[in-house]
Amino acid sequence: MKTYVVGNWKLNFNVGEASIYLHKLLKKLPNYRDVEVVIAPSTIALQPLSLQVDRHKMKLAAQNGFYRDYGAFTGETSMSQLRGIVDYVIVGHSERRYVMGENDKMIAKKVAAAVRNRITPILCVGETENERAFGETADVIRDQVLGGLSEVSEEDIDKVIIAYEPVWAISSVKGAKLATPDEVATVVGLVRATISEVYGAETGERVPVLFGGSVNPSNAGAYLTVPGVNGVLMGGSSLILSEFIDIIDTAKRVRA
Ligand code: PGA
Repeated sequence: MKTYVVGNWKLNFNVGEASIYLHKLLKKLPNYRDVEVVIAPSTIALQPLSLQVDRHKMKLAAQNGFYRDYGAFTGETSMSQLRGIVDYVIVGHSERRYVMGENDKMIAKKVAAAVRNRITPILCVGETENERAFGETADVIRDQVLGGLSEVSEEDIDKVIIAYEPVWAISSVKGAKLATPDEVATVVGLVRATISEVYGAETGERVPVLFGGSVNPSNAGAYLTVPGVNGVLMGGSSLILSEFIDIIDTAKRVRA
């Protein structure tokens, strides 16, 4: 299985800045066949960057996409419009859940719409600081995994990636803390156990599970070697080209 290194740029970089970053990244990016490098720029930059990107070297992701393909949905971009432009789409990121009010039902429809349009959804799940403090982590993760995958058939489960991102570890959250590798291992185990319940043990082992939350060049190696973790999803560190490349190199090294 590939190791995934995914950069979520969030609301940063205009189209020109995004294009310059991509130009520099493509120049420096080694062709590691077993490391899948993905960046998720703003929606507005996706189309021009799709003409610039070298898909043999890396892929593009959308940060979000709507679950209906067309219709009266002002301001939305559908998965069908993203089809052919991106290979991946981030779905259910905690900022969409808690700032934009997305719930598991909407997220499930988005996951299904992505799969229907041949885009691999990266379904994000993660507990808040309060949920962890009240001992609710296992229930929250189970609900979010089951909820987010509720429209995915057995046939399609291999087209989905899960990312565990504890909300309290995301670098832009006030008072963010680093998750320990043990904490990550426990929750990734829960994610896999939940998938196994529905889709069988083999699938539970096979679905790629990424970790995200303040991943940077100094801790990426530790997270990438947590049993059951197949890659990392970064916000802050993906905005700094040298850090992003450093983490890609780490991904290659820990696999070797
Ligand atoms: P961070 O963001 O790496 O800045 O903590 C991760 C994310 O929100 O996906």
